[in-house]
Amino acid sequence: MDLKDKIILTTGGSAGIGLATAIMLREKGAQVIITARNQEKLDKAAAEHDLIAIQGDVSREEDVQRIYAEIRQRFNRLDALINNAGYGYFDLLENMDREKFEAVFATNVTGAMLMAREALPFFKSRQYGNIVNISSTAGLKGFARGGAYSATKFALKAMTECWRAELRPYNIRVMLINPSEVQTDFVVNSGREAREYNPTKLQAEDIAHAVCAALEMNDRGFITELTVFAVNPQG
Ligand SMILES: NC(=O)c1ccc[n+]([C@@H]2O[C@H](COP(=O)([O-])OP(=O)(O)OC[C@H]3O[C@@H](n4cnc5c(N)ncnc54)[C@H](OP(=O)(O)O)[C@@H]3O)[C@@H](O)[C@H]2O)c1
Repeated sequence: MDLKDKIILTTGGSAGIGLATAIMLREKGAQVIITARNQEKLDKAAAEHDLIAIQGDVSREEDVQRIYAEIRQRFNRLDALINNAGYGYFDLLENMDREKFEAVFATNVTGAMLMAREALPFFKSRQYGNIVNISSTAGLKGFARGGAYSATKFALKAMTECWRAELRPYNIRVMLINPSEVQTDFVVNSGREAREYNPTKLQAEDIAHAVCAALEMNDRGFITELTVFAVNPQG
């Protein structure tokens, strides 16, 4: 897909990987809509980088419907959805809090499903579309304290495979990107201590590059899944 003038929606677009992706897509000529819960942060990001802000929580069905109603009214078109909004909840099984467990599923899994479901009428009517799900290497391999987060990303991978099987006949490409550790506020937002910046570890721009590359590939083909690691991380 040539990104120029395409209408692309990036969830969790006010920070980290989502914002870096939105900026790169915009630089390549796309019109980029970003969503996130915190209106102030979202508006600031949009104003600074020439993006379009529509506030919303992906886990709330009424927000998802409002976001798409606004897109329909303003553009009546959508070329790609980047399902990026997500966060981590890490703890041992013995400490697992049911409310927190269900909340992380509500955003990382149900939110991605709602966003993709409501994008379908746009895509099916034109027999064309792209869905990029931002999963994680935590969605490929489990680890201690990952019983909630890792499970959400395994679920996202499973949904990706199912949607892909359903949607290929409509020329809708469903792609999965699995970043390993990326230096964003993800760690702090998951209730863990901030880590010092490390130039050998991945940055949000690296994942933005992977998203753009997957989208830019000629529409006759698609990369089903892309896993991104730092080459030689130190520390
Ligand atoms: N950083 C990593 O090491 C890493 C590695 C692999 C995969 N990932 C995945 O990459 C994605 C982005 O992570 P990040 O590192 O960029 O995290 P981040 O810096 O914490 O950014 C998360 C973004 O998502 C938004 N968001 C969170 N919950 C939301 C909800 N319910 N509805 C709408 N927006 C929501 C946040 O804004 P608001 O808080 O204002 O809503 C923010 O814009 C996540 O899916 C994460 O699991 C991250």
